Amino acid sequence: MSAASRCRVCAGTVQEFFDFGRQPLSDAFPRPGDTADEFFFRLAIGMCDGCTMVQLMEEVPRDRMFHADYPYVSSGSSVMRKHFEAVAERFLATELTGPDPFVVELGCNDGVMLKVLAEAGVRHLGVEPSGGVAEMAAGKGIRVRNAFFEESTATEIAAADGRADVIYAANTLCHIPYIESVFRGVGALLAPTGVFVFEDPYFADIVERTSFDQVYDEHFFFFTARSVHAMAARYGLELVDVERLPVHGGEVRYTLAPAGSRRPSSSVVELLAEERAAGIASTATLHRFADSVQGIRNDLVALLARLRQEGKRVVGYGATAKSATVTNFCGIGPESVAFVCDTTPAKQGRLMPGSHIPVLPPERFADPYPDYALLFAWNHAEEIMAKEHAFRDAGGKWILYVPEVRVV
Ligand code: SAH
Ligand code: TYD
Ligand code: ZN
Repeated sequence: MSAASRCRVCAGTVQEFFDFGRQPLSDAFPRPGDTADEFFFRLAIGMCDGCTMVQLMEEVPRDRMFHADYPYVSSGSSVMRKHFEAVAERFLATELTGPDPFVVELGCNDGVMLKVLAEAGVRHLGVEPSGGVAEMAAGKGIRVRNAFFEESTATEIAAADGRADVIYAANTLCHIPYIESVFRGVGALLAPTGVFVFEDPYFADIVERTSFDQVYDEHFFFFTARSVHAMAARYGLELVDVERLPVHGGEVRYTLAPAGSRRPSSSVVELLAEERAAGIASTATLHRFADSVQGIRNDLVALLARLRQEGKRVVGYGATAKSATVTNFCGIGPESVAFVCDTTPAKQGRLMPGSHIPVLPPERFADPYPDYALLFAWNHAEEIMAKEHAFRDAGGKWILYVPEVRVV
């Protein structure tokens, strides 16, 4: 027996296909001794019968997640910095060649993308509800509005600054359950010749790699070309381009334009066909995903139990939001993972949400090296393993759990 909820896109019925149980806020790192009032909710995921949009069964109020102390900083990875600089350069060469172009970014975070456009003298605005990171962006000379993007924000921006040639959102649109208000806002703000471009984790990649830890409070929607195509059409927009991206374990960049304004590229038809062939919206696929998730949990729990029995020292690497799902779903605590190292100042000295594993600066990794490191930031594996090559040289081993549990 599984639960049902109402689709936030089409009001159809969302059928639950996996329940991760009681989970904390993924980016709320309590201070030691200050864990009494942690917020928990039921983390479960389902697919809409009508439009196939994959979404959470329960919504966490937005102010609990995005506020002045929101700790995630986009510039924390050099690969991601390069990724966003390339996005900005591409916009400069394509969409922003007219006179006095205007760009709006939703969830600009610390300004990693907009910095390039600001330096190029492009008129821009970042909309960022989390005060701390918004201030970081402002400190880089970026124009930021400390607010949630929704219809009212968009109307005010359009009135003050005019229509936007580009509205861009990376890893942000999937964070917004009130998506109807966002699309009405995009309608009010986007120029008739403009584009709405967003990139988010791709549900087909999540299924393919069983990257179940992409499911957490902030990730409300899990897009496919099919569900985005249908969603766009509801708001007079058309999906005109899709591009698969290697970042964050597999994403798609969707480009939407006012219906009929641009000729869709062949990649749209191709990805839609690929999804159909893969049966990405079929019950069988969702059941297979659920089985694989259980398999990973069993394997990881067994591996950590064995290492503990053998007296091996295990630490975690990367206090990601994703790791909240892994630790709480698998029941991993400080007895099996002594601490997690992370470069983010706002996470250091704090505890991992729910599991209460301490978070320490990366300098503690080599002090002395553990026997095993559980790579929670698996999406940054190349960058981290290169940086920490001395760990393996010293005989250390990495534990990965996506797409399956293995030691390397
Ligand atoms: N774009 C950055 C940050 C992603 S984290 C990157 O890709 O690295 C998600 C961001 O979305 C957070 O900074 C959060 O504060 C912001 N956010 C959440 N709801 C939002 C909304 N309604 N409008 C604009 N930004 C929002
Ligand atoms: P990330 O996987 O980008 O996102 P999420 O929190 O949404 O799951 O988070 C990466 C985390 O790993 C972030 O807290 C910074 C940290 N990190 C390091 O400690 N060292 C590194 O070299 C890199 C790239 C990230
Ligand atoms: Zn729906």
